[in-house]
Amino acid sequence: MEQLLEELRQGLPRGEIPAALFGNDEIYNLELRKIFARCWVFLGHDSEVPASGDYVRRKIGEDNFIVVRDEDGEIHALFDACRHRGVQICRADSGNTEIFRCPYHGWAYDTKGNLLGAPLWKKAFGGMSKEENGLLSVAKLATYHGLIFATLDPTTPPLEEYLGGMKWYLDLVFGLNKHGIEILGPPQRFVIDANWKSGSENFSGDDYHLGTLHRSVWAIGAFPVSFADNMMGYHIQASAGHSLSFSMAPTEDDPGPKFFAYPDDLAASFNTARIDQEQLRVARRSRVFVGNVFPNFSILAAPMTDDGAHFPPTGVLTIRTWQPMGAGKFEAWNWFCAYRNMTPQQKERVYKSGLASFSMGGVFEMDDTEPWILAARTGRSVTAEVLDFKLNYKMGLPGIGIAKRTENWAGPGIVYSPRYEEGVQRNFFRFYSELMRAERGTWPKFSLE
Ligand code: FES
Ligand code: FE
Repeated sequence: MEQLLEELRQGLPRGEIPAALFGNDEIYNLELRKIFARCWVFLGHDSEVPASGDYVRRKIGEDNFIVVRDEDGEIHALFDACRHRGVQICRADSGNTEIFRCPYHGWAYDTKGNLLGAPLWKKAFGGMSKEENGLLSVAKLATYHGLIFATLDPTTPPLEEYLGGMKWYLDLVFGLNKHGIEILGPPQRFVIDANWKSGSENFSGDDYHLGTLHRSVWAIGAFPVSFADNMMGYHIQASAGHSLSFSMAPTEDDPGPKFFAYPDDLAASFNTARIDQEQLRVARRSRVFVGNVFPNFSILAAPMTDDGAHFPPTGVLTIRTWQPMGAGKFEAWNWFCAYRNMTPQQKERVYKSGLASFSMGGVFEMDDTEPWILAARTGRSVTAEVLDFKLNYKMGLPGIGIAKRTENWAGPGIVYSPRYEEGVQRNFFRFYSELMRAERGTWPKFSLE
């Protein structure tokens, strides 16, 4: 395993990554400790738990957490393991309660995780401290635009520092108007026999696959920009590990879709209440935003339709996590988002168009999962191991392809255009490489390439 990590470190400047990273069990076990037990991990949106006692069950790595709003309105993420024998307490995906009661012997906890009591308390535990037997909690929890993140490591930098330059782009998507976003319905979940990093690196900005893998999507009129035009835009290494990509019109006067093809009356509410003029101008030219907050939180805003013959594509915002379940298995969690001031009809268009495109049965998602399954098979193959198979991430390296670094850009990060470029993925793996080799308690110093 140490050799694999060394090969990664040395190969990255040349765009070479050992295939075994997508299938090696030891690497996966280290990822749970070095990545998921240290980074800020996305848990949900505060609109999913609007009232006191509202809870949802979420994951950090493979472990369950109860994300709950207490009676004072504060959100907690409690490790879902009873302090008596470690039994999982919460059996529902979501709900509202004042008390979480363990199914084994009946210990009861409040929405802050405090132990309230247990059956036959005096006889069984009289004299024992309740304070020391509350549910364990994440080390830190913070929200950004209502997005709830948590970390298990108290030494991880504060969320806003961790996001760094990525904040500018999250502002641009989630702060387009003063109303903000809400989640439409519970998340969809589906298990894929592939490695979680395939989702993260794809959403870091793999636009190159659209013309091959998703060719059929154009055939049914579900996407309003040609493949060649869609490759125009920018690849951005926003900050350590966090990358994104914009498909963007050449000018603000371009006749194509504006603001990700959101309806004109909604777009009229997009303003500078929460973002600046430059962010608004970038959003106006944008057709697609796709990005990944390291390690496994991805965001996509793009024009979609479920029925091209009757409805023009409309902006759809989906957020997702690639929840690890093993070196060769992950569960995709998929939420659709609406701006709160959308009409009910607009929200319905978003939901239906999202379901038809980026969901278990969506035309994009069904395409995407298949190659990720095949890549994971190579990742765990003996042949890849003995022949020392390196994956190719060379697109956009000096002398390769047409992408050029551009300084003419209003936001933070290192920016390349057009989108024939894989520096966005190399940024993901450079930060990954640093974290996989860092000791707990020290946070890697990182500069963008
Ligand atoms: Fe929870 Fe015993 S394991 S009460
Ligand atoms: Fe895709």
